Amino acid sequence: MRYDWKRLYSELSDCRKCGLCEARHNIVIGDGNPHAKLMFIGEGPGRDEDLQGIPFVGAAGQLLDKMLRAIDIERQDVYIANVVKCRPPNNRVPTYEEASMCLPYLRAQYALVRPEIVVCLGATAARNIIDKDIYITRDRGRWIEKNSVWFMATYHPAALLRDESKKRDAWEDLKSIKRRYDSIAKQQNT
Ligand code: URA
Repeated sequence: MRYDWKRLYSELSDCRKCGLCEARHNIVIGDGNPHAKLMFIGEGPGRDEDLQGIPFVGAAGQLLDKMLRAIDIERQDVYIANVVKCRPPNNRVPTYEEASMCLPYLRAQYALVRPEIVVCLGATAARNIIDKDIYITRDRGRWIEKNSVWFMATYHPAALLRDESKKRDAWEDLKSIKRRYDSIAKQQNT
C-alpha cells in the first residue's frame, strides 16, 4: 500500500490491528521534520508519550533532545518515530506480532521522509529495522549502508539513564552521527 501523510494519519487514527489499542490514550505517530535527513527510531511510546501523543517527550526524550543539542542538532531538524505507535502495558517490549502489525506504518514514514541516515535507538528498533541478530553492546556504532541510506544502532536513551557507564560509548556514536550528517550536508552544498 502506498501512503501519503494524510492517508497514514487517517488510517492510524482508528487503528485496531493489535491489542495495544485497548489501553492507549493516544496513538504516537511521529515528530519533527518530515523532510529530515536524519531519522531516529525508538521502541514504543511510554507513559508520557501515550498521554501527549508525541514520541520521546518523557525522561528518555529529554535526554535525546540534550544529546542532539550536544552535536548542534535541534529536535525539529530530525524526524522521530517508534516501532510501535501505541504504548505497550508497563513499557514491556512489543511482541513480534505487535511489531509486525505496526511496521508497515513505520515503513510508510520512512518512505515519506526519505532520510539519508537512520539511527535505531535500542535493540527493538535495531532488530526490526537493521538486522534481527543485532546486539547493541556488540554492534552499536557500526554503519551499514542499504540502498544509499546509512543505518546505525546505538543505545536507547532510557538505557543511558539506567546505566551511566554507557554514556561514553553513546557519545562516540553521537559524534560519528554528526560527522556523517555534516558530510552529507557538505556533499549537498557542493
Ligand atoms: N521510548 C521509546 O522507545 N519511544 C518513545 O517515544 C519514548 C520512550
